[in-house]
Amino acid sequence: MRKNIVAGNWKMNTTLNEGLELAKELDAALKGKAINCDVVIGVPATHLASIAAAIDTTKIGVAAENCADKVSGAYTGEISAAMVVSTGAKYVILGHSERRAYYGETETTLKEKTLLALANGLTPIFCIGEVLEERESGKHFDVVKAQIEGSVFNLSAEEFGKIVLAYEPVWAIGTGKTASAAQAQEIHAFIRQTVAAKYGATVADDCSILYGGSCNGANAKELFANPDVDGGLIGGAALAVDKFMPIIEAF
Ligand code: PGA
Repeated sequence: MRKNIVAGNWKMNTTLNEGLELAKELDAALKGKAINCDVVIGVPATHLASIAAAIDTTKIGVAAENCADKVSGAYTGEISAAMVVSTGAKYVILGHSERRAYYGETETTLKEKTLLALANGLTPIFCIGEVLEERESGKHFDVVKAQIEGSVFNLSAEEFGKIVLAYEPVWAIGTGKTASAAQAQEIHAFIRQTVAAKYGATVADDCSILYGGSCNGANAKELFANPDVDGGLIGGAALAVDKFMPIIEAF
């Protein structure tokens, strides 16, 4: 069954104490509320264990924002999928456009990261999306197709069934410029068709495809009302509970 998911991506924001406060505040805000989607928070690696211990992780899934493409060993500064799991986190955001652009992540490293995340029982939230020039020259369909084919179409159908996709047009991230509901639906439907062509209609139908890029309390309802938009990956608006809750409540 396809799940609706609202996932926060805190990026490199909050100190440990600030992050703990934010997570606890969200936990308190969700208590006793009937919520119609899964809620996830992607937090800095330094915060994972403390936050997972401080909140009800049956209500709020904790996500790392990255993990290594290697199992273990002499990779100074890296954090493995097994380490992420050991903190109590259940998800990992992979292939975010900021990691592709600033940290040189390639289809090949992302393929490894995805396999290791799955092997360790983490749910990857796998990000794809085009830059502005690609959108303006009409290449966005080809770009997202190549990103999916390059990093996750090596998975078995069973493995693919465990990942979440997040379409995030780079031109909409942190810019206040959201894709219109029609633009989001058009490309989400295309992504689902691409998945269906590879894995069949059932796998495609069960796949959650999130939208990300300046999603907020004012536009979430319209975006999520689309049949192929199954939630959001939220950056800026996930950093304050009064901004994040209306997005969760858009379902
Ligand atoms: P934004 O970020 O909501 O601040 O645009 C989304 C993301 O990068 O995941």
